[in-house]
Amino acid sequence: MTTELEQQIAAAQEAVTKQGDTVRSLKASAKEGKAEKSEVDAAIQKLAELKLTLESKQKEFEKATGKVSSQSKEALRAALAGVLERRMFYIPSFKIYGSVAGFYDYGPPGCAIKQNMTQVWRTHFVLEENMLEVECPAVTPEVVLKASGHVDRFTDFMVTDVVTGECFRADHLLEGHLEALLEDKKNPVSPEKAKEIRDLLAGVGELKADTMEAALTEYDVRAPGTGNGISPPFAFNLMFKTSIGPKGDMVGYLRPETAQGIFVNFRDLLYYNGGKLPFAAAQIGNSYRNEISPRAGLLRVREFTQAEIEHFVNGDDKRHPKFSLVADLRPLLYSRELQMGEEKKAQPMSLGEAVSRGIIANETLAYFIGRTWLFFCKIGVNPARMRFRQHLQHEMAHYATDCWDGEVETTYGWVECVGLADRSAYDLKAHSAMSKIDLTAFEKFPEPRMEEVVKVVPNNKELGAVFKKDQKAVKEALEALDSSAAMDVKAKLEAGQTATVSNCDGQTFEIKAGMVEIKKVTEKVTGKTYTPSVIEPSFGIGRIMYCMFEHCYYTREGDETRAVMGFKPVVAPTKATVFPLVQKPALNDLAAKLSRELTAAGLSNLIDTTGNTIGKRYARTDEIGVPFAVTVDFQSVEGDGSVTLRERDSMTQVRVPASEVAGVVRDLVDDRTTWEAVSSKYPAQKASADEE
Ligand code: ATP
Ligand code: GLY
Repeated sequence: MTTELEQQIAAAQEAVTKQGDTVRSLKASAKEGKAEKSEVDAAIQKLAELKLTLESKQKEFEKATGKVSSQSKEALRAALAGVLERRMFYIPSFKIYGSVAGFYDYGPPGCAIKQNMTQVWRTHFVLEENMLEVECPAVTPEVVLKASGHVDRFTDFMVTDVVTGECFRADHLLEGHLEALLEDKKNPVSPEKAKEIRDLLAGVGELKADTMEAALTEYDVRAPGTGNGISPPFAFNLMFKTSIGPKGDMVGYLRPETAQGIFVNFRDLLYYNGGKLPFAAAQIGNSYRNEISPRAGLLRVREFTQAEIEHFVNGDDKRHPKFSLVADLRPLLYSRELQMGEEKKAQPMSLGEAVSRGIIANETLAYFIGRTWLFFCKIGVNPARMRFRQHLQHEMAHYATDCWDGEVETTYGWVECVGLADRSAYDLKAHSAMSKIDLTAFEKFPEPRMEEVVKVVPNNKELGAVFKKDQKAVKEALEALDSSAAMDVKAKLEAGQTATVSNCDGQTFEIKAGMVEIKKVTEKVTGKTYTPSVIEPSFGIGRIMYCMFEHCYYTREGDETRAVMGFKPVVAPTKATVFPLVQKPALNDLAAKLSRELTAAGLSNLIDTTGNTIGKRYARTDEIGVPFAVTVDFQSVEGDGSVTLRERDSMTQVRVPASEVAGVVRDLVDDRTTWEAVSSKYPAQKASADEE
C-alpha cells in the first residue's frame, strides 16, 4: 500500500467484507425468526452503499493510474483461488508431503473441464481442418532435441541471491523492477526515462547475456525479499534430463514441446496424406520444463498439457483456401508498430486488412489467428480481454518470418496462452540435416515445362583443400541454397567478394571464387522439390483454463460470498443437476429417472438429495459452474408431469415436460438453441423465495 488512495481502497474493501458477514448472519437469524426482515433489508442497503464507495475509490485509482487497482485484483484472485481449491478444480500435487512447486493435480471439476476443453479444441481444429492427429512419447532421445536446437539453446537466464543462493529468472526480476519504477508515484521517473523503460520492457524476454547483465546493473536490480546483490545472469537449460535403458548410456529428455514428435514423423505423415500439401498434423500431450521459478498457479508449471498444430505448406504460397471465412473478424491486434508507439495499446482490425497491409505476414498465419480467436470465444474467454501481440523483430528466431502470441488479460497482467509462429522451413531442414533423411515434398506440375533453373556445383577438390574435415558440411550448405540465395552468392563471388553460407547447426563458412560454380541452365522439369514451411499454433491448456476461470468468475449481486463460475455449457464440468424438491419416494424416483435420461443423452449430471434448501443447493452448483438445474416438485408427480429448468446466470426458470427435459438441455449445451428461445417456448416458473 504505497498511496493514500490505495489505503482508502483497502479500508473500503474491509468494510464491504465485514458488512457482507453481517448480512449473512442476519439472514440466517431471520430464517430462525431471531431477526426482523427490516433489519436484513437495512443491512443489505448499507452493503450496497459500501460497495458503491469501494467502486468509486477503485475508479478514482484506475483513472489516476490507468491501471486496475492492485487491491481489487488481489481480492478477486484470492476469492477465486478459494473457490478453485475448495471445490478441487486443482490443488498442489504431493500435498501430504509438502508439495513441489510447479506441479498441480486436477480434481473432479478440473479434470472434466480439461477434457471438455481439449475436446472442443479437437473439434474446432482437428476435425474442421482434417488434421492428422498423432501421439508420441514424452521421453525423447537426445539426438532429436540436439537437432531441434533445444539441447544447446532451450535456456533461460538465471541469477542467484549472492548471500542465500536462491534462484530467480533474470528477465522476470528485471521486468518486475522496471514495472515498479514506472508505477512509483513517490519518485516518478521523467517522461524520457519512462519511454526508455517501456521500450526496454517490451524486449526484456529477448536480451542476450551481456545486455541483460548491463540492464540489471544499470537499474541496480536486487534479490527480492532480501535486497541482497545478485550474480551475473547465466544460461540454465530448462529440460529434464534422464537416461533411457538399464545401462544408462543413452541420454534422453522429457520433451519440452510436443512439436518435435510431429516433425520427426513428417515423411510418414506426408506419405499417409498421399504426398499432398498443405496438410496439418496435431498433437495433444504433456510437455515438461524445469522452470526456474514456477509461479502463479497453473500459469507457469513444470508439467503441462500442450495442444500443438504443425501446418506444412509450400513456402512460396502461403495463401489459405478458407481465409475468407475469417477475413472479417476483428480481434485486438497489437502489432510491432503499436508496441513501439506512444500509446502502446492493441487495436481491433480485420484480419483481411491486416494481411493486405502486410501487418500479418500471410493468409495461413492470419487464418489460424482468426480460428484461435473463435476458439477462445467458444470456451468463454472475454474477447475484449484477449489480444494478439506480434513479436518484435529481435524477439523472433532468425529463421522465423512472423510470430504472434495470443494473450489474455488477467489479474496477473497479459498472459501468453498461445504462440502462433511462421517458422519457415527451419525444423524440417534441421531434422533432415541431422538424420540424413530426405524431408522434402514434391509438387508435380500439371504439365512438364522448360524452365531456367539454378545449378550449384561445389568444387570438391578446392573445398577439401580449404575446409578439410568440414568439406561435407560446406558442400551440404551450398547444395541447400535456394535459387535466390545461390544467385546472391554468385553475384558476390563475381564481384570479387566472399560470401557466407551456413548450415542448420549454425556453422558458417566463407566461400571464395573457385569453390563453387553457380549457373543458370534451361531444362525440362516435371515439378518442384522443396522443404515445406511450417506454421505452428501452440496452445497451453492449463494457462487457457486459468484465464477462462478468471473471466467466468463472478459473485451474485448483493452477496459477495455467492460465487458463480459462469462457464459456457460446452466446457462446464457438469451440465445439469437434478433436485427432488423434498425427500419423497415419488420425487426421488422421477429425479433418478431424469438423471438416467440425461446420462443417456451424454450429459454429465449430479443428483443432490441432501436435505438442504433449494437455494443452498443452487448456490453449491453455481460454484462449480453447472449451467442448468432440473427440479422435480409435487406438480411433476401429482400434476401435469412437468419439471422446472433453471438457467444459472439469469436464475430464471421455466416448466418443461419431464419427457422433454434431457433433449432441451442437450440442445442448450450444443448451442442448437438459446435460453431466450427456451424461455419463450415454455411457461415461466417463479423462483423459490430463498433463491431470490
Ligand atoms: P513463456 O515465455 O511464458 O515461458 P513460451 O514462449 O516459452 O512461454 P511456448 O514455448 O511458445 O511458450 O509454448 C507454447 C505455449 O505453451 C504457451 O503459449 C503456453 O500456453 C504454454 N506454456 C509454455 N510454458 C508453460 C509453463 N511453464 N506452464 C504452463 N504453460 C506453459
Ligand atoms: N425449481 C425449484 C425452485 O427453484 O424453487
